[in-house]
Amino acid sequence: MTPTADPHDTLRPIAWQGDHLRLLDQRRLPGEVVHLACRGVDEVAAAIHDLAVRGAPAIGIAGAWGMVLAASQALSRGETGVDALEAPARTLIAARPTAVNLAWAVTRMLQAARAAGVIDPTALAAQARAIEAEDLAANRRMGELGAGLIAPGSGVLTHCNTGSLATAGFGTALGVIRSAWSAGRLSAVYASETRPWLQGARLTVWELAQDRIPATLLVDSAAAHLMAGGAVRWLVVGADRIAANGDTANKIGTLQLAIAARHFGVKVMVVAPSSTVDLSIADGSAIEIELRDEAEVTRFGGQATAAAGVRAWNPVFDVTPAGLIDAIVTERGVVERPQPGDLAALLVATS
Ligand code: MRU
Repeated sequence: MTPTADPHDTLRPIAWQGDHLRLLDQRRLPGEVVHLACRGVDEVAAAIHDLAVRGAPAIGIAGAWGMVLAASQALSRGETGVDALEAPARTLIAARPTAVNLAWAVTRMLQAARAAGVIDPTALAAQARAIEAEDLAANRRMGELGAGLIAPGSGVLTHCNTGSLATAGFGTALGVIRSAWSAGRLSAVYASETRPWLQGARLTVWELAQDRIPATLLVDSAAAHLMAGGAVRWLVVGADRIAANGDTANKIGTLQLAIAARHFGVKVMVVAPSSTVDLSIADGSAIEIELRDEAEVTRFGGQATAAAGVRAWNPVFDVTPAGLIDAIVTERGVVERPQPGDLAALLVATS
């Protein structure tokens, strides 16, 4: 972790070490702060698949550094043609299917190599560093834009972990909460547990504690009751992929939170960099939803938490229809109550 000067923004989960990638191992939090050293592309792909690094922008950045490792590995085998990067790119992209940031970043790295016509790890490292720097800058901008939508004195609820741990730093939805907290606009921050992997309980409230932002944890099933009592004015969430019409894939449970929010008059803000917007798909029905191991539902920490032999269904993302979203905040601007064409217009106008 690289300390920053801001006491409300102290964590950096991904660090390139010159010859390997150092990841804060999110499987071990909050109990242990340990790092994982990835020295080859297969190790990076495994770290992404196994959730040592997770969160849409973070897996994109890790994938970009994975391509740098792939380039060095190819040269050490005497392979100098850019074709040698195609298979590693496929391996990285296959590590997780839903967040488009992974394919976006790996494809950008591959295109940079193709444009150069040679495998040059130094040039690719500069490209990976640029992806990381752009993400951090985007997060700070989204923080300002999103915080500006929140009326002073509001309570907010967030889901999953969208903070520094899920990005180059600062965070998307949690970046908005970080900015709004720093500006004194928030009366309370609530974080849902986020079954089954507990990103909210294990990561978000840990991250907020590190960054001295008080937060209250609730079980996922308490969220509608919280909203019914009027404690929150905004549900602020991230995204793994946003279709052209604004339909948004995010952590499983976001859809039911958005439905409850609409019922109780709580506004829904989706915060994501433009690299999460996938204009190639018209709506959310085309988004592949990752299904993970049943054991994530039936076991925890090595212990069975369900009756022996039971089958479990474990989709880890869902799609919230654009009609339930009040604002999509990107670093390029805000789309309120998204309609088909709005995101494309924003991205074209600001390109
Ligand atoms: O399975 P995860 O932990 O990678 O899921 C993460 C989320 O769903 C986040 O909300 C999303 O990636 C945005 S992170 C800034």
